[in-house]
Amino acid sequence: MEEAKREHFGGRLAIIMAMAGSAIGLGNIWRFPYLAGEHGGAAFIFVYIIASLFLSLPIFLAESIIGRRSHANTYGAMEKLAPGTKWKWMSILTIIAPLIIVSYYSVVGGWSIEYLLKSLTFSFNNVPRAEISSMFSSFIASPWIPIACHTVFLGTCAVILTAGVKSGIEKFSNWSVPILFILILVILLYSLTLPGAMDGVEYMIKPDFSKIDSKVILAAMGQSFYSLSLGVGTILVYSSYVSKKENLLVSGVGTAVFDLLFAIMAGFAVMTAVFSAGVKPGAGPGLIFESLPYVFSTMAGSAPIISGIIAILFFVTILVSALTSGVSLMEVGVAYLVEEKKMRRGVATLSVFIGTWILGCLCSLSFGPMSGLKIFGENLFGFCDWISSNFLMALGALLFSLFVGWKMKKSDVYDEFTNGGTLRFNVRCFKAVYFLIRYIAPLVIGIIFLSGILL
Ligand code: PHE
Repeated sequence: MEEAKREHFGGRLAIIMAMAGSAIGLGNIWRFPYLAGEHGGAAFIFVYIIASLFLSLPIFLAESIIGRRSHANTYGAMEKLAPGTKWKWMSILTIIAPLIIVSYYSVVGGWSIEYLLKSLTFSFNNVPRAEISSMFSSFIASPWIPIACHTVFLGTCAVILTAGVKSGIEKFSNWSVPILFILILVILLYSLTLPGAMDGVEYMIKPDFSKIDSKVILAAMGQSFYSLSLGVGTILVYSSYVSKKENLLVSGVGTAVFDLLFAIMAGFAVMTAVFSAGVKPGAGPGLIFESLPYVFSTMAGSAPIISGIIAILFFVTILVSALTSGVSLMEVGVAYLVEEKKMRRGVATLSVFIGTWILGCLCSLSFGPMSGLKIFGENLFGFCDWISSNFLMALGALLFSLFVGWKMKKSDVYDEFTNGGTLRFNVRCFKAVYFLIRYIAPLVIGIIFLSGILL
């Protein structure tokens, strides 16, 4: 009865689009290029691809197996699959983590709204680079406009969520993900024509393996988790909307391929532009906001209109990709409140909105009036990012891989992964996938986790 009421995604493509919508986001456009820049370009990308295949993909499958097996939210899933145990209390952690992430994520989403408006009015044209940098720092330090933008961003996510899984999440990602690919392709092609762009290409494809050290490996693994939305229940909850007929391996591989492709295209687009402008590739989190407006608007040469339009497309891409991820982060909390607290979807969304809006406002103010408040040496925004991406995500991923590898019955895991033994290819790779989930994932996450605390 209960299952009949639950919404399902409309088919294989809809599932991949929704999951890719969650995966593709600020992580690909904002985090990936600056991390690759800081950690030696191609060498970082090489480790990132290996980590995505052998670590992140198995964890993705573990989350999918729990979600689809239970057809429930994170807490309900643990209670259904391990009734009367403490697992469900641990799952609360993976409900809180995405709410922390979406709070500060929405602040960055808000910045992209302001930057989109600025690029629509061609405000960056012929402004010297130093001024563009100071424009950014004084903008994020001002109290009101960033909070207004954060409100618009989070409010838009909430409106999409209120419409439900099929008419909200599915519809939105079905049109936005293909558009994102077209936009990033256009931006990439333009960036490749900029003078000096080839230095950026070389940086991205020529690996210097001597650069690979433990810090690079950790950063690449952490980024691969972040990018695939792992460890915070998002993939679990989205998989709970997947019907029993679908092939979990196909949706997992499909999502990972889209995400990787997008990250690489965004990485090339940003890096060629950055090199062309003579900006240092390791400029850190401000890279896209401080240098790209300058790159697109000042490198225009004879065609300022074209580069102005490219700047607009660039901020549209950031905004739309952040929205599809923001929606998926909020859905974890909404699904919990609807199913466990029996709230109506609208009320649940409003509750999640209010909580994350307040934390987001504090994160935004931590660049200005509240910058004096330091937690472990970071402002509140930095602390929320640090605690979630270095600590909570790894802990959640550990929890999910241990649950599938050690708590669930092997026969149930097999049944879910192979659709009752009917998917021949999945039957053949089950052993390897199970081994990666049961032994390799917990071991490697344990290492990431410890070094995240110790480094
Ligand atoms: N994967 C998203 C990105 O790359 C971020 C995210 C993390 C979304 C965790 C959902 C859950 O931007």
